[in-house]
Amino acid sequence: MSLSLSAGKPEVPDDAADGTWLECIDCGETFGPFEDVRYTCDECDSLLEVRYAEHPTFDDFEGEGVWRYSDALPLESGVTAQEGATPLYEVPRLEESIDVEALRIKHEGMNPTGSFKDRGMTVGVAVAKELGVGRLACASTGNTSAALAAYGSRGGMETLVLLPAGKVAAGKIAQASLHGARILEVDGNFDACLDIVQELASQGEAYLLNSLNPFRLEGQKTIGFEILEAFRDDYGAFPDRIVLPVGNAGNTSALYKAFRELVQAGELDRDEVPKLTGVQAEGAAPMVEAIENGADEVRRWEDVETRATAIRIGNPVNAPKALPGIRETDGTAISVSDKEITEAQRDLAGEGIGVEPASAASVAGLRKLRAEGIVESDERVACLTTGHLLKDPDAAAAAGNDPEPVPADTDGVLASLASENSSER
Ligand code: F0G
Repeated sequence: MSLSLSAGKPEVPDDAADGTWLECIDCGETFGPFEDVRYTCDECDSLLEVRYAEHPTFDDFEGEGVWRYSDALPLESGVTAQEGATPLYEVPRLEESIDVEALRIKHEGMNPTGSFKDRGMTVGVAVAKELGVGRLACASTGNTSAALAAYGSRGGMETLVLLPAGKVAAGKIAQASLHGARILEVDGNFDACLDIVQELASQGEAYLLNSLNPFRLEGQKTIGFEILEAFRDDYGAFPDRIVLPVGNAGNTSALYKAFRELVQAGELDRDEVPKLTGVQAEGAAPMVEAIENGADEVRRWEDVETRATAIRIGNPVNAPKALPGIRETDGTAISVSDKEITEAQRDLAGEGIGVEPASAASVAGLRKLRAEGIVESDERVACLTTGHLLKDPDAAAAAGNDPEPVPADTDGVLASLASENSSER
């Protein structure tokens, strides 16, 4: 009920601080926001959300980046590296070939550490400081670990990351390493890493900064605010649909929360809410399965595989927040093959936008949904690309042209240029 788009104004509980509190999405139990460390409900173990007595309107926002939206965040300021305010690119060739009214790419790879995780970390690490915790930790398919390591070191805090051995792209490990995280490579997949780090957190060994942490999702809400403001300014209307890759479904949950808060603030009509459309890789698609089956719960996939390692996830922990988001906005979810992901990665690269494989899933999914007639030609769509090309240089090199060896003289170079490029894909 509390996750409905048309929920009424909330009652402010006694434990609220400055009109902010934590509330269980299932049993409604409330907690003070910063009084203790907790990630889930003490009563029923369900997910928590940050709740506010008042929601700002667009006019209340000022400045640039994530902290422009501080009136919609649990703190006034954070441990910042100037995250947010990412580009919303036009892509005329893709727009025409996919055949939609308008297509824009919100490139979250342009954040300081190259992924949208920075938006969550600027808030999450600030809350960690507020709580006075020691070591920060996360399980990660790579990007969360890079962002945690960078923001943790910016905040002068110790960081620990658990990664699935052999399944994290090179750029991401390099980032976590140089920013000084202690890196543990686990002989298991991401879901196993998350199980362990949750145990460590519950034993007080570390403060958990995965997207189970409700404060992180507050920062990620700002993607929604930015897209809606930009569409309103450029087209005089909000987008009909936002398409995004799904792993743990944190972003899906965060965008839905942004919409609900704007509806509450009277900025967004119920029928203007963009349709949230999630895309997963075929080899890791438990959310798609749940949407297709009309299920209330997501079945955990034990064996997951995809070239898009960032979303190689079988147990999307934020599903209880994200499933209502997809359904209430009349959105949908679809899976795409690794081949379709690579083709979309090339298509984006052909418009000068370099993304990692998981990011390209959004565009691959849109193309497929349009071909199936589920997305219509009169729609204005924003696709999220979540991480930068350089995150996964091996995938980029495999999808792109091979370098051609040539002799160190002009005649030799000219001879090569005159011949067919045998290495072109
Ligand atoms: N795209 C990229 C590039 C990601 O790194 C992730 C998640 C997602 C999409 C999925 O987002 O979980 O909010 O649905 N990466 C996490 C990590 C799991 O550890 O970096 P979600």
